[in-house]
Amino acid sequence: MEKGTSIAWVRAREILDSRGNPTLEVEIGLAGGAVGRAAVPAGASKGIYEALELRDGDPSRYGGKGVLKVVANVQQVIGPKIIGLSALDQEGLDHLLIELDGTPNKGRLGANAVLGVSMAVAHAAAASQGLPLYAYLGGPEASLMPLPLFNILNGGRHAQGGVDLQEFMVVPVGAANFAQACQWGAEVYHALGRLLEERGFSLSVGDEGGFAPPLAHNEEAIALVTASIEAAGFRPGEEVAVAIDAAASELYREGRYVLSKESKALDAEQLVEMWEEWCSKYPLVSIEDGLAQDDWEGWAFLTSRLGRKVQLVGDDLFVTQVDRIRRGIDQRVANAVLIKPNQVGTITETVEAVRVAQKAGYACVASHRSGETEDVTIADLAVALSMGQIKAGAPARGERTAKYNRLLRIEEELGAKARLAPLPFSV
Ligand code: PGA
Ligand code: ZN
Repeated sequence: MEKGTSIAWVRAREILDSRGNPTLEVEIGLAGGAVGRAAVPAGASKGIYEALELRDGDPSRYGGKGVLKVVANVQQVIGPKIIGLSALDQEGLDHLLIELDGTPNKGRLGANAVLGVSMAVAHAAAASQGLPLYAYLGGPEASLMPLPLFNILNGGRHAQGGVDLQEFMVVPVGAANFAQACQWGAEVYHALGRLLEERGFSLSVGDEGGFAPPLAHNEEAIALVTASIEAAGFRPGEEVAVAIDAAASELYREGRYVLSKESKALDAEQLVEMWEEWCSKYPLVSIEDGLAQDDWEGWAFLTSRLGRKVQLVGDDLFVTQVDRIRRGIDQRVANAVLIKPNQVGTITETVEAVRVAQKAGYACVASHRSGETEDVTIADLAVALSMGQIKAGAPARGERTAKYNRLLRIEEELGAKARLAPLPFSV
């Protein structure tokens, strides 16, 4: 073992996330003095096939959301088994964590316990090598900056009283570099704020920092976002395009997709028709979870209709898990995968999911969760694995800008080597 890289101590604690809920933070120290720290995010519109996020369920603390059991699992169950092992063997450690848990959904120790340790090990190992995380995990070749998808209008589970659809994002497809993409995203965000103010809406925001106006129709949201691109002085589609996350699993009731704001219940075919119409009317280049997590038939239809020209991202559908991604590839379903490490639980499994997707020509989008912390691991992962895209919420609010700001620093560090990834599908 390389000198000083064995794990010397493991510490865990409960910290607060962006919604004021407790979450897990893990610190790992190596014999040579290097320390790694990581915090685990939490979803609100979770897929049913995600790895299990363990919570205490004790109503006397944090409304049952405490993570003291998870803290104990890290310190008392995982810690003693990994102390003395090499932090440089990420795969070996991750497989040990999977074995220690022993369940298919990491329900015994909690996927949050497992991911916290997996990420903290990676950070400690990178520090021991004197490398930034993206270079430690991605090697000297890692230099592709992800195209950012800024969520500027929130709805669904992330915005009480907002529209039914969860996320309306802007994508600076014409930007020359990541810094310019950030600038453009922020300018459009502020232009949307001005448009909403003019229309008499409050500027309250949803969980991911995007505005959350109580619009009467979902289509009004995409129309407003498109208008805000123009109002900020950009050419819609050419310079700044639009992406949505319908989070359709949340709309699904007994075979139909319920748009409660519009008192509509559409079948899969009708919803696909709506997406097609939106693609022809708006500069819409990416649709995430356009249908529900178990609607494979609907997804195949959606992909046959739009999959050649629009990015179709599976989030709840794939839950960052290789078996579901493989099924999608086999059945020609979707053409892109949302990558959320906490849906699967370890860095190694996240890397495998990305590799399987990329090998099949599927695009990858690194993703935060609606409940976030200052942790920026996903920003480094996006660069390390050349994912090509990232969504981390609005270009506002500290837990969101932490990821974008980390990428600004990485771009600066890479200097002339850095390239901003292009949009993977032509519109
Ligand atoms: P979540 O939503 O983090 O609340 O699950 C994010 C998403 O659906 O992409
Ligand atoms: Zn999603």
